[in-house]
Amino acid sequence: MKEVANIINAFFRGITHSKVSLIGAMVVTVVFPFLVGAIIYDIYFHIENTYFAGFIYMLLGPVFLGGLLLVFLGLFFFKGKEEVRLFTLEYLQDYFTDPTKFSRLRRILFFTVFLTCVNLFIFGVLAYRGYHYMESTGFCGTFCHTVMNPEYTAYQNSPHSRVTCVECHIGGGAEWFVKSKISGARQLLAVAFDTHPRPIETPVHGLRPARDTCQQCHRPEKFHGNRLVIKERFLPDEHNTKTFTALLMKIGSAGDHTTGSHGIHWHVAPENEITYQHADYGRQIIPIVTMTGASGGERIFLSSDADEVMAEAAARGGGVRVMDCIDCHNRPSHIFLSPDQAIDRKMLEGEIPKELPFIKRQALAAATQLYTSSQQARTAIATQLHDWYQTNYPDLVKKGLVEKAIRGVQAAYAENVFPEMNIQWNTYVDHIAHTPDFDPMIGCIRCHNDEHETVTGEVISMDCDLCHTVLVENVKEMNIPEMLRGR
Ligand code: HEC
Ligand code: HEC
Ligand code: HEC
Ligand code: HEC
Ligand code: HEC
Repeated sequence: MKEVANIINAFFRGITHSKVSLIGAMVVTVVFPFLVGAIIYDIYFHIENTYFAGFIYMLLGPVFLGGLLLVFLGLFFFKGKEEVRLFTLEYLQDYFTDPTKFSRLRRILFFTVFLTCVNLFIFGVLAYRGYHYMESTGFCGTFCHTVMNPEYTAYQNSPHSRVTCVECHIGGGAEWFVKSKISGARQLLAVAFDTHPRPIETPVHGLRPARDTCQQCHRPEKFHGNRLVIKERFLPDEHNTKTFTALLMKIGSAGDHTTGSHGIHWHVAPENEITYQHADYGRQIIPIVTMTGASGGERIFLSSDADEVMAEAAARGGGVRVMDCIDCHNRPSHIFLSPDQAIDRKMLEGEIPKELPFIKRQALAAATQLYTSSQQARTAIATQLHDWYQTNYPDLVKKGLVEKAIRGVQAAYAENVFPEMNIQWNTYVDHIAHTPDFDPMIGCIRCHNDEHETVTGEVISMDCDLCHTVLVENVKEMNIPEMLRGR
C-alpha cells in the first residue's frame, strides 16, 4: 500500500517539477468537477439551454482535454530530475529484471491503466454527448441566434419540423461529417467576426445530393396518382370574401415494377438524367437542358438566346447541375410565405378575425411596407391598424377584434420577414410552382416555357394539363365530391 502511495507521490512530484504540467494539472482539477457534474446532469435531465450546452461541450470539454495534454507534455519534456526516469528505457529494464522492483512497476502500470480508463471514459462521454449536441437542432438553429433565426423560424412551421437540420444538410457517413465540421468551424468564425452574408446565400452550393438525404426517407418510385390541392384565399374587399382554387396535381411516380415513370416525379426516375446549365449563381436562368432517357439517347433543349446568355455565365456564377429534388423542392423546410399567403393563413387559423371589415386589405397594407427592424415593424403595424379602425370602425376597436388582428398580422410578419438579416417578403424564391404571370425565372417555367427547343423542334411543354388539372379557380363556392365526379 505504501508503495502505491510512493508511486502516486512520484507521479505528482513529476508534475510539480514541471511548470507546464502544473498548469495543466490545475486546469484539470478546476474543470473536472464542473464537467463531470454537467455531463451527468445532461445525461439524466438533458440540458435544454443551447448556450449552457455550448459552454460545456465547446469550452469546458476542450479546456479539460487541453489541461490533460499539458500534464503529459510537461512530464514528457521534464528533464534532469529523478522522476523522469519513470519514462526511460533503462529505468524500465531495471525494473523488469529486479523482482522486488517489478512489483512496484506493476503498481505503476495499474495506476496508469486506471487513470487512462477514467480519462477514456470521460473522453468517450464528452465525444458522444458533444457529437449529439453539435448535431442537435437546438445548436444548429439557435446557437447563432440572429443569423439562423429566419431558417429556424420557417423550419418550425414546416412539415419537416421533426426532421433534424443535419438529416437534410449533412446526411450519414464519415466524409460528409468531416466536411460539415470544417465548414461549420468556418461558419462559426464568420459569425464571430460578422463576415457572413445577409441574407445567407442560396442555393447552398455545397448541399449534398438529394439521394443521400431526402431519399433516405422518401421514395418517389412509390409515389402514385394525383393529389388534390385546395387553396383557400380571401379577397381584399369589405367582406374579405373567401375563394377556392382546386387542382389535381399529377404527382405520378419515378417508376415502379408495375408503372413506368410518369407525371411530375418522372424527372427523378433512375433511368432519366436531366442536366442543365444555369447562367447565374441562383440557378434562375436556365438556357440549356440536356435529357438522357432510358434508351441512352440524348436530347438538348436550347432557349433561343442560349449563346448570348451563356457568354456571361462564368461572370455571374453559372454552372452545370444534375437535376434532383432540390431543383423543385428548394424550400421543403424553410418555407417563407408571400404576404398574401401569410395573411390568408392567419385568417384561416382564426388568428386574424375574418369578420373584421377590410382586414385583408388593411393587413396587407400594413405588413408590406419596408421596415428596417422587427421592432419598428411591430409598432408600426399596431399603430397603423389601430388608427385606421379607430377612424372607420371605432366600435370594433372596443370589442377587442382589432387588438387580436394586430397580434395576428405582427405574427405573420415576424414569421416571414427578418429585416436584421435583410430578408424582406419574397427574398427567397420558391421553385415548387409558377407565379400567376408565369415568370420565366421562377419554378417550373424556367424550363417549361415552350421556348426551349431541340434541333427537331420538340419543346419542354407549358401545356396547362401537363402537371395538373385545374378543377376550379377562384370560385366563391365549391363542392369537392361533385367536382371529383366531374359534374
Ligand atoms: C427537409 C430538409 C431540411 C431541413 C430539415 C433543414 N433544411 Fe436547411 N435547407 C434545406 C434546403 C433544401 C435548402 C435550400 C437549398 C438550396 O436552395 O440550395 C436549405 C437552406 C438552408 C440555409 C441557406 C439559406 C436558405 O434559406 O436558403 C440555411 C442557413 C439552412 N438551410 C439552415 C437550416 C437549419 C438551421 C436547419 C435546422 C433548424 C435546417 N436548415 C433544416 C433543407 C433542409
Ligand atoms: C428524416 C426523414 C426525412 C427527410 C430526410 C426528408 N423528409 Fe420530407 N418528409 C418527411 C416526413 C415524415 C414528411 C411528412 C410530414 C407530414 O405530413 O406531416 C415529409 C413530407 C415531405 C413533403 C410533403 C410536404 C407537404 O406539404 O405535404 C415533401 C415535398 C418533402 N417531404 C420533400 C422532402 C425533400 C425535398 C427532402 C430533402 C431536402 C426531404 N423531404 C427530406 C420526412 C423526411
Ligand atoms: C420537377 C419538379 C420536382 C422534382 C424533381 C421532385 N418533386 Fe416532389 N413534388 C413536386 C410537385 C410539384 C409536387 C406537388 C406539390 C403540391 O401538391 O403542391 C411534389 C410532391 C412531392 C411530395 C408529396 C407527395 C404527395 O403525394 O403528397 C413528396 C413527398 C415529394 N414531392 C418528394 C420529392 C422527392 C424526395 C424528390 C426527389 C427524389 C422529389 N419530390 C422531386 C415536384 C417535384
Ligand atoms: C431543369 C429543367 C426542368 C424544370 C425546372 C422542370 N422540368 Fe419538368 N421536364 C423537363 C424536361 C426536360 C422534361 C421532358 C420533356 C420531354 O420529354 O419532352 C420534363 C417533363 C415534365 C413532365 C412530363 C413527364 C412525363 O410524364 O413524361 C411533367 C409532368 C413535368 N415535367 C412537370 C414539372 C413540374 C411540375 C416542374 C416544376 C415544379 C418541372 N417539371 C420543372 C425539365 C424540367
Ligand atoms: C410544368 C408544370 C406546370 C405547368 C406547365 C403549368 N402549371 Fe400551373 N401549377 C404547377 C404547380 C407545380 C402548381 C402549384 C401547386 C401548389 O401550389 O400546390 C401550379 C399552380 C397553378 C394554379 C394555382 C395557383 C394558385 O396558387 O392559386 C393555377 C391556377 C395554375 N397553376 C394554372 C396554370 C395554367 C393556366 C397553366 C397553363 C398556361 C399552367 N398552370 C401550367 C405546375 C404547372
